[in-house]
Amino acid sequence: MGDKEEEAEGLLGEESLPNKSIRRPLFTRTAFIITIINIIVFFTSLALFVISFSQRYQLNFELRQASTYSPIFDRLDLEMRPRKIQGTLFPDKESASIARELPNAAADEIWEEWELSRFYPLTRDEIVRMGKDPSTVPKLEDSEWGLGDDAYVGAFDVYHQIHCLNALRQNAYRGYYKLTTRNHTVMGLPEIHINHCVDILLQALQCSSNVNFMTYHWVAGQEYPQPDM
Ligand SMILES: *[C@@H]1O[C@H](CO)[C@@H](O)[C@H](O)[C@H]1NC(C)=O
Repeated sequence: MGDKEEEAEGLLGEESLPNKSIRRPLFTRTAFIITIINIIVFFTSLALFVISFSQRYQLNFELRQASTYSPIFDRLDLEMRPRKIQGTLFPDKESASIARELPNAAADEIWEEWELSRFYPLTRDEIVRMGKDPSTVPKLEDSEWGLGDDAYVGAFDVYHQIHCLNALRQNAYRGYYKLTTRNHTVMGLPEIHINHCVDILLQALQCSSNVNFMTYHWVAGQEYPQPDM
């Protein structure tokens, strides 16, 4: 009987093995599809990793994350470094900014230099990438400027912001700048300009401000803690 069973198993085994391999092959259609998907997912994530890795080494990577497009990011290395804000009410005269000076001709010359909106050439594609319409932007003609056939007028926003700050400063010293005293209940062109400047600076500050802190400190001779502005 034992021999017969072995024989039967042997026969079954011989018969069932080839049968199984026909019905359920080692590499089924499903397994094949899953493997293909796996390979695709692997190479996609590998590509994304390489792209993000290479972007990290793009010029001005950190600034690009916190700003809308500017062609300057591709052209200049805007090296970032921490700067300590000079906020004291009584700075040393030698290290003080011209903003701390009473109005004078020498400081005015520097203010004028800083607020001047200089032209900076932009290409047509750069203007489009900024989301603007290049068809109404004046061209810097090659015959006149020698900048090639794809140069259009641009100017840095920061110069306009400095112009606005200087306009407010001059209004604060309107006696020196011979600005006539105005009736504050009447909205004339000078008021429209001043309010435009206040709004420009307010938006610039609110859009670019950081989340740094002032801290308050006990200072000898002061009754209350003072901010380290
Ligand atoms: C300012 O303008 C208002 C409205 O025109 C007028 O009523 C007021 O008298 C003016 N004030 C001065 C100081 O001129």
